[in-house]
Amino acid sequence: MAKSTEHFSCQSCGASYRKWQGKCDSCSEWNSIVEDSGKQVVPKGLSSGKGRQLEFTTLDAEKSDYKRHFCGLNELDRVLGGGFVPGSSILIGGDPGIGKSTILLQAVGLMAKRGYTCTYISGEEATQQISMRAKRLGLTDSPVQLAAANSLRDIVTSLEKSAPPDLLIIDSIQTMYADNLDSAPGTVSQVRACSQELIRLAKKLNCALMLVGHVTKDGQIAGPRVLEHMVDTVLYFEGDRGHQFRILRAVKNRFGATDEIGVFEMTDMGLQEVANPSALFISNQEKDISGASVFAGMEGTRPLLVEIQGLVAPSQQATPRRAVVGWDSSRLAMILAVLDARCGLSLAGNEVYLNVAGGLRVNEPAADLAVAAALVSSISDIPVPEKSIIFGEIGLSGEIRAVGQTDARLKEAAKLGFEAAIIPLGSKIKDPTIKIIEVEHLSEIVSLFTREKAAVNA
Ligand code: TYD
Ligand code: MG
Repeated sequence: MAKSTEHFSCQSCGASYRKWQGKCDSCSEWNSIVEDSGKQVVPKGLSSGKGRQLEFTTLDAEKSDYKRHFCGLNELDRVLGGGFVPGSSILIGGDPGIGKSTILLQAVGLMAKRGYTCTYISGEEATQQISMRAKRLGLTDSPVQLAAANSLRDIVTSLEKSAPPDLLIIDSIQTMYADNLDSAPGTVSQVRACSQELIRLAKKLNCALMLVGHVTKDGQIAGPRVLEHMVDTVLYFEGDRGHQFRILRAVKNRFGATDEIGVFEMTDMGLQEVANPSALFISNQEKDISGASVFAGMEGTRPLLVEIQGLVAPSQQATPRRAVVGWDSSRLAMILAVLDARCGLSLAGNEVYLNVAGGLRVNEPAADLAVAAALVSSISDIPVPEKSIIFGEIGLSGEIRAVGQTDARLKEAAKLGFEAAIIPLGSKIKDPTIKIIEVEHLSEIVSLFTREKAAVNA
């Protein structure tokens, strides 16, 4: 019997199979296995001595110091760790319509105006469409080299023949195809082959490469996970469709810090940088309302104040609803359990809603105390003390644990006109610029509100 030449691979993790099956054994994804050519080129005769002699260098800092290119979009430059590194490759992912093409067009437009050679290759839009967008962004006079193409061969040929660009944008990697592979664009083997080739080319031409990657329905960059390993930097462009704010987040960066964020606002003139994002995520607190607290958080090296809103409402249902936007729902469950078990405040019969204002997603445990304060304030209908910020991690026994970067958080709060801070006992503060209220246990937060309530009722 002839040997089966069929080959299937998982589009989600890249595992290969002899026959089709509905579920991938290695990543448990359903319906992700498709047929592909499966040709793997194995280099032969490696020991024949035909290789090139490698040149070894040292770890000497001077030699390995990169000369970076700044594009002029400061928020983008900062997230990248201080501009583009020549020869590096960057992957940017995000929901459709979030503004990936817009931010990249603005970046190349500004950079080309500063005298760099920038090439923008789109596999999704026609050049007319891009020119129309450039008009809207006021970038028509920028000398960007623009092309609409899908064939990797054409792209490689054109780039090798002309003067190498300083920045090359490929929008998006899922629309590119290598004609020596049988599979359709967007499949694992195509995405892998195209990105490998483009990364190699970028290293050879010493130009920075930026790839746009589509995301799957659960927000991961589509295609093989290896893509994220191959590139030097992975950025996510996120934001809420209902809000104007867009957040650029570095999740991997070989040339800078991760967890760094850049904040933009989508306007009818494209993306505008937001230099002072804290003012944006806290609403005008003219009148005191219960159920809202201001959390002094950190995003990377940058302090960011955000408003946390809680609502505790009576419920008619057997299992009351808990809904969370912008925070971790299991963390909310933990805080409710601690309030119940350690502070005697049971919310088992209530619906609980929690919202981080402005469409931001908060990941820090330091937000625990701000969440608890918003909830307790909502139950007691007493506003959180005026002009105060709050942060601290809550332990399972109800103790409040100190968190890092206290000074940076306090400084940001003082800058924005806050006058007091409720923080964990034992926080290391160098020079307090605002009034400090230290708390040791969650019950102190609870009594802060109930005591005031008693005073009001009396
Ligand atoms: P786009 O950059 O095409 O998104 P992606 O490449 O991530 O899919 O985003 C376009 C969206 O942004 C679209 O919904 C319209 C909006 N937009 C503005 O609001 N103002 C502008 O100036 C531009 C260019 C786009
Ligand atoms: Mg696009």
